[in-house]
Amino acid sequence: MRSLAVVVIAACGHPAPPAAPEHRRGGELMIEVGTRYVRLSREVAAGRWELAAYDVHELRETFEDDLLVHTWGDNPTMQKAAKDFLAGPLAQLEATARTQDRAGWGTAFGATTTACNACHKTGKVAFVEIADDGSLRDGR
Ligand code: HEC
Repeated sequence: MRSLAVVVIAACGHPAPPAAPEHRRGGELMIEVGTRYVRLSREVAAGRWELAAYDVHELRETFEDDLLVHTWGDNPTMQKAAKDFLAGPLAQLEATARTQDRAGWGTAFGATTTACNACHKTGKVAFVEIADDGSLRDGR
Protein backbone atom coordinates (compact mmCIF):
# COMPACT_ATOMS: atom_id res chain seq x y z
CA MET A 1 0.00 0.00 0.00
CA ARG A 2 1.31 3.38 -0.93
CA SER A 3 1.53 5.95 1.78
CA LEU A 4 -0.28 9.20 1.38
CA ALA A 5 1.77 12.31 1.19
CA VAL A 6 0.40 15.10 3.29
CA VAL A 7 1.18 18.52 1.96
CA VAL A 8 1.11 21.29 4.45
CA ILE A 9 0.81 24.73 2.97
CA ALA A 10 2.15 27.29 5.35
CA ALA A 11 0.27 30.54 5.75
CA CYS A 12 2.11 33.23 3.87
CA GLY A 13 1.55 35.96 6.41
CA HIS A 14 -0.31 38.42 4.20
CA PRO A 15 -3.82 39.32 5.39
CA ALA A 16 -6.52 38.39 2.88
CA PRO A 17 -7.92 41.40 0.97
CA PRO A 18 -11.44 42.37 2.05
CA ALA A 19 -14.08 40.52 0.07
CA ALA A 20 -15.74 42.61 -2.63
CA PRO A 21 -19.45 43.14 -1.95
CA GLU A 22 -21.50 40.49 -3.64
CA HIS A 23 -23.41 41.82 -6.63
CA ARG A 24 -26.72 40.23 -7.39
CA ARG A 25 -28.68 41.10 -10.51
CA GLY A 26 -32.01 42.93 -10.15
CA GLY A 27 -33.95 40.06 -11.68
CA GLU A 28 -32.33 37.56 -9.33
CA LEU A 29 -33.16 39.71 -6.29
CA MET A 30 -36.74 40.06 -7.48
CA ILE A 31 -37.09 36.31 -7.92
CA GLU A 32 -36.29 36.01 -4.21
CA VAL A 33 -38.80 38.78 -3.41
CA GLY A 34 -41.47 37.04 -5.52
CA THR A 35 -40.79 33.61 -3.99
CA ARG A 36 -41.16 34.90 -0.45
CA TYR A 37 -44.11 37.10 -1.28
CA VAL A 38 -46.28 34.42 -2.90
CA ARG A 39 -46.02 32.09 0.05
CA LEU A 40 -47.11 34.74 2.57
CA SER A 41 -50.82 34.32 1.72
CA ARG A 42 -50.64 30.58 2.30
CA GLU A 43 -48.70 31.00 5.53
CA VAL A 44 -51.18 33.46 7.00
CA ALA A 45 -54.18 31.40 5.82
CA ALA A 46 -52.67 28.45 7.71
CA GLY A 47 -52.02 30.57 10.81
CA ARG A 48 -48.26 30.22 10.39
CA TRP A 49 -47.61 33.74 11.60
CA GLU A 50 -44.04 33.15 12.74
CA LEU A 51 -43.06 31.92 9.30
CA ALA A 52 -44.88 34.85 7.69
CA ALA A 53 -43.06 37.31 9.99
CA TYR A 54 -39.78 35.63 9.06
CA ASP A 55 -40.47 35.97 5.33
CA VAL A 56 -41.46 39.62 5.70
CA HIS A 57 -38.22 40.22 7.62
CA GLU A 58 -36.22 38.52 4.85
CA LEU A 59 -37.97 40.74 2.32
CA ARG A 60 -36.84 43.77 4.31
CA GLU A 61 -33.27 42.46 4.36
CA THR A 62 -33.25 41.92 0.61
CA PHE A 63 -34.29 45.53 0.13
CA GLU A 64 -31.98 47.00 2.78
CA ASP A 65 -28.88 45.00 1.81
CA ASP A 66 -29.25 45.10 -1.96
CA LEU A 67 -32.19 46.89 -3.52
CA LEU A 68 -31.71 50.22 -1.73
CA VAL A 69 -28.22 50.49 -3.20
CA HIS A 70 -28.92 48.78 -6.51
CA THR A 71 -28.22 51.01 -9.52
CA TRP A 72 -31.28 49.77 -11.46
CA GLY A 73 -29.52 50.40 -14.76
CA ASP A 74 -28.88 54.02 -13.73
CA ASN A 75 -32.47 54.86 -12.85
CA PRO A 76 -32.17 57.03 -9.69
CA THR A 77 -35.93 57.11 -9.04
CA MET A 78 -35.79 53.41 -8.24
CA GLN A 79 -33.75 53.76 -5.04
CA LYS A 80 -36.30 56.26 -3.75
CA ALA A 81 -39.13 53.92 -4.78
CA ALA A 82 -37.43 51.08 -2.87
CA LYS A 83 -37.08 53.29 0.21
CA ASP A 84 -40.74 54.34 0.08
CA PHE A 85 -41.76 50.71 -0.31
CA LEU A 86 -39.95 49.80 2.91
CA ALA A 87 -41.26 52.73 4.92
CA GLY A 88 -44.87 52.34 3.74
CA PRO A 89 -46.40 49.01 2.73
CA LEU A 90 -43.69 46.72 4.07
CA ALA A 91 -43.72 48.38 7.50
CA GLN A 92 -47.50 47.80 7.61
CA LEU A 93 -47.07 44.13 6.75
CA GLU A 94 -44.49 43.79 9.52
CA ALA A 95 -46.79 45.39 12.07
CA THR A 96 -49.78 43.19 11.23
CA ALA A 97 -47.61 40.03 11.18
CA ARG A 98 -46.25 40.94 14.61
CA THR A 99 -49.70 41.45 16.11
CA GLN A 100 -51.20 38.56 14.09
CA ASP A 101 -53.95 40.89 12.95
CA ARG A 102 -55.64 38.95 10.16
CA ALA A 103 -57.96 41.76 8.95
CA GLY A 104 -55.15 44.31 9.06
CA TRP A 105 -52.93 41.86 7.22
CA GLY A 106 -55.41 41.60 4.34
CA THR A 107 -55.46 45.37 3.92
CA ALA A 108 -51.67 45.66 4.20
CA PHE A 109 -51.13 42.81 1.74
CA GLY A 110 -53.41 44.46 -0.83
CA ALA A 111 -51.56 47.77 -0.45
CA THR A 112 -48.22 46.02 -0.79
CA THR A 113 -49.26 44.26 -3.99
CA THR A 114 -50.38 47.61 -5.40
CA ALA A 115 -46.97 49.05 -4.47
CA CYS A 116 -45.11 46.12 -6.09
CA ASN A 117 -46.96 46.78 -9.34
CA ALA A 118 -46.52 50.57 -9.10
CA CYS A 119 -42.75 50.11 -8.86
CA HIS A 120 -42.79 47.76 -11.82
CA LYS A 121 -44.38 50.60 -13.80
CA THR A 122 -41.73 53.04 -12.54
CA GLY A 123 -39.04 50.53 -13.48
CA LYS A 124 -40.52 50.11 -16.97
CA VAL A 125 -41.44 46.47 -16.37
CA ALA A 126 -45.21 47.00 -16.04
CA PHE A 127 -45.71 43.58 -17.62
CA VAL A 128 -44.40 42.06 -14.36
CA GLU A 129 -47.83 41.95 -12.72
CA ILE A 130 -48.37 40.61 -9.24
CA ALA A 131 -51.85 39.13 -8.72
CA ASP A 132 -54.01 39.50 -5.60
CA ASP A 133 -52.68 36.26 -4.11
CA GLY A 134 -49.10 37.50 -4.50
CA SER A 135 -48.21 35.30 -7.47
CA LEU A 136 -46.63 36.47 -10.69
CA ARG A 137 -49.34 36.62 -13.35
CA ASP A 138 -47.54 34.34 -15.77
CA GLY A 139 -50.49 32.62 -17.41
CA ARG A 140 -50.92 29.71 -15.03
C1 HEC B 1 -38.20 49.45 -6.04
C2 HEC B 1 -38.98 48.96 -7.12
C3 HEC B 1 -39.61 47.60 -7.02
C4 HEC B 1 -40.40 47.12 -6.01
C5 HEC B 1 -40.85 47.85 -4.74
C6 HEC B 1 -40.78 45.79 -6.38
N1 HEC B 1 -40.21 45.45 -7.57
FE1 HEC B 1 -40.32 43.62 -8.48
N2 HEC B 1 -39.15 44.29 -10.00
C7 HEC B 1 -38.62 45.57 -10.10
C8 HEC B 1 -37.85 45.65 -11.32
C9 HEC B 1 -37.11 46.87 -11.83
C10 HEC B 1 -37.91 44.40 -11.94
C11 HEC B 1 -37.20 43.95 -13.23
C12 HEC B 1 -35.86 43.40 -12.81
C13 HEC B 1 -34.77 43.68 -13.79
O1 HEC B 1 -35.00 44.32 -14.79
O2 HEC B 1 -33.64 43.32 -13.50
C14 HEC B 1 -38.76 43.56 -11.08
C15 HEC B 1 -39.06 42.24 -11.36
C16 HEC B 1 -39.85 41.43 -10.57
C17 HEC B 1 -40.15 40.03 -10.84
C18 HEC B 1 -39.66 39.21 -12.03
C19 HEC B 1 -38.31 38.59 -11.67
C20 HEC B 1 -37.78 37.70 -12.75
O3 HEC B 1 -36.76 38.07 -13.37
O4 HEC B 1 -38.37 36.63 -12.97
C21 HEC B 1 -40.95 39.59 -9.81
C22 HEC B 1 -41.50 38.17 -9.61
C23 HEC B 1 -41.14 40.70 -8.92
N3 HEC B 1 -40.47 41.80 -9.40
C24 HEC B 1 -41.89 40.63 -7.77
C25 HEC B 1 -42.10 41.72 -6.91
C26 HEC B 1 -42.98 41.67 -5.76
C27 HEC B 1 -43.81 40.48 -5.33
C28 HEC B 1 -42.89 42.90 -5.17
C29 HEC B 1 -43.60 43.41 -3.95
C30 HEC B 1 -43.53 42.58 -2.76
C31 HEC B 1 -41.95 43.69 -5.94
N4 HEC B 1 -41.51 42.95 -7.00
C32 HEC B 1 -41.59 44.98 -5.61
C33 HEC B 1 -38.79 46.60 -9.21
C34 HEC B 1 -39.50 46.53 -8.01
